[in-house]
Amino acid sequence: MKNLTTTELRDLFLRFFEEKGHKIIPSASLIPENDPTVLFTTAGMHPLVPYLMGEKHPEGVRLTDVQKCVRTGDIDEVGDASHLTFFEMLGNWSLGDYFKKESIEWSWELLTSEKWLGIDKDRLYFTCFEGDENAPRDTFSFNRWVEMGVDESHIFYLGKKHNWWIPGNSGPCGPDTEIFFDTGKEKCCEECSPACSCGKYLEIWNNVFMEYFQPLGGSLVPLEKKNVDTGMGLERTVATLQGAKSVYDTDAFELIIRRIGELSGKNYSDSDDTVKAFRIVADHIRTATFMIGDPRGVVPSNVDQGYILRRLIRRALRYAMQLEMPDGSLAEVSKAVIEKYASVYTELSDNREKILHELDAEEMRFKRTLANGMREFERIKGGFTDGVIDGKNAFRLYDTFGFPIEFTEEMARENGISVDTEGFKSAFEEHQKKSQAGAEQRFKGGLAEANEETAKLHSATHLLQAALRRVLNDENVAQKGSNITAERLRFDFSFPRKLTPEEVKAVESMVNEFIAADYPITCDEMTVDEAKAQGAIGLFDSKYGTKVKVYTMGSASKEICGGPHASRTGELGVFKIKKEEASSAGVRRIKAVLTEK
Ligand code: ALA
Repeated sequence: MKNLTTTELRDLFLRFFEEKGHKIIPSASLIPENDPTVLFTTAGMHPLVPYLMGEKHPEGVRLTDVQKCVRTGDIDEVGDASHLTFFEMLGNWSLGDYFKKESIEWSWELLTSEKWLGIDKDRLYFTCFEGDENAPRDTFSFNRWVEMGVDESHIFYLGKKHNWWIPGNSGPCGPDTEIFFDTGKEKCCEECSPACSCGKYLEIWNNVFMEYFQPLGGSLVPLEKKNVDTGMGLERTVATLQGAKSVYDTDAFELIIRRIGELSGKNYSDSDDTVKAFRIVADHIRTATFMIGDPRGVVPSNVDQGYILRRLIRRALRYAMQLEMPDGSLAEVSKAVIEKYASVYTELSDNREKILHELDAEEMRFKRTLANGMREFERIKGGFTDGVIDGKNAFRLYDTFGFPIEFTEEMARENGISVDTEGFKSAFEEHQKKSQAGAEQRFKGGLAEANEETAKLHSATHLLQAALRRVLNDENVAQKGSNITAERLRFDFSFPRKLTPEEVKAVESMVNEFIAADYPITCDEMTVDEAKAQGAIGLFDSKYGTKVKVYTMGSASKEICGGPHASRTGELGVFKIKKEEASSAGVRRIKAVLTEK
């Protein structure tokens, strides 16, 4: 078996598939471009969905790539041997070209041939789809592995839960055959198999045979063309090849772990606690670095991607403090990440200053309240005899001390108590209602004076946000605040620098084009998930299943909002930007008016 570094495995994988007639395509952004169903790219297939659905890819029908991915569903597992929140997925793709036969043959060749990885075939195990009422048992794959020389005792038929791949609830999908490496650990029980999560069998590669489309809530439809989507976890496979104890004990993390050691003055392998803390800081800061450094970069906030980023940084900080790392350590760890990865992902060096600044700023923001929050947590904890932190207190920790609810839950778990999450949701919604009521009241005050004018300015604010996103080509432009009087609108939004005069002009013209298009302004009620699925923007803060209003203005804008609005964009008159200025760090402010035509 070859002992390869991450750089070597990336290159070898791409070269192998290039030799088999595949074109190498670059990694897409971590933030999906046209897919409002996921916050981050979680698999190599996400950016390729249109092509898996039949659209022609400019590079042809055989592709190979290394895709940056983020999965935070298993965040609590981070720190064990194999879980990461950021990872690189090596993939090869057939868009209606080859199918199971070649796919399996090539996986086998790459894994076992001495020319390539040279893994001992006796250490490889396989699973195939066992079939159900909707799709047949995948005997083809089973037989193909046997023809390749795999002993039948190494192949397992498993159900949909294990061997069916679909992005979420709907999309191109199909049965898969997964490849596992036997780590050599003892079997955990008599039935121990690749279906088991004890860690004996490590999944390293998944070949998905996408021959169906799953409509939301409907039944499977066969696709016109059959595709292959594969995913090999770079870090896991390298750990396998390097014979490493875990993904953290490979070259991917060597420099990062070393830097944490220098900063903390502690030894990684001192105790189970240090191992866990080092790994969590390393993983979370690596992920945060890639999130902020992405071409469609994210900054910490309380919604969507920004919230996930905030959670990761704050969780990393807690463990960094446990390791007694000094102030500013998160950015220092990030420098090691950039050093390790910038030659492959140049966006990290391009955005170096932004990454370090955001990490420092978030560290400072959280540290300001963290110590008080911890004291508050201790106080709350001591005051409860029934072992539950109630919703009101969990909300206080969230609202006043910036503790993400998951953070409070984790600390509670460590203390053998629990959190009333339902109560937290109610307190959260209660607060939302109050602040909304407050906003509406203020609004109504204004409305009493000049109902029609404010409604128009309010509609203009939506168009302004839509235009800013298009002109600045930045979907991270997000509303940070808005204030409307009968005379003017004021809109605060996240953006790192001053707009150029040309940009201001372009935004203004675009809003006026939207007005000239005279789009009808319509309102629909739906759940937050439905709104997201439709690509609506706006504050997704009320994420706990409540219905929201979504205002649509033709193809210009779709936004969650309480209203009220004008009934057509044509009623707004002429839009004029009066001022563009800084509001606070990373936030710009625009003041604008509407005048008669
Ligand atoms: N889409 C497949 C996966 O993510 C390859 O496992």
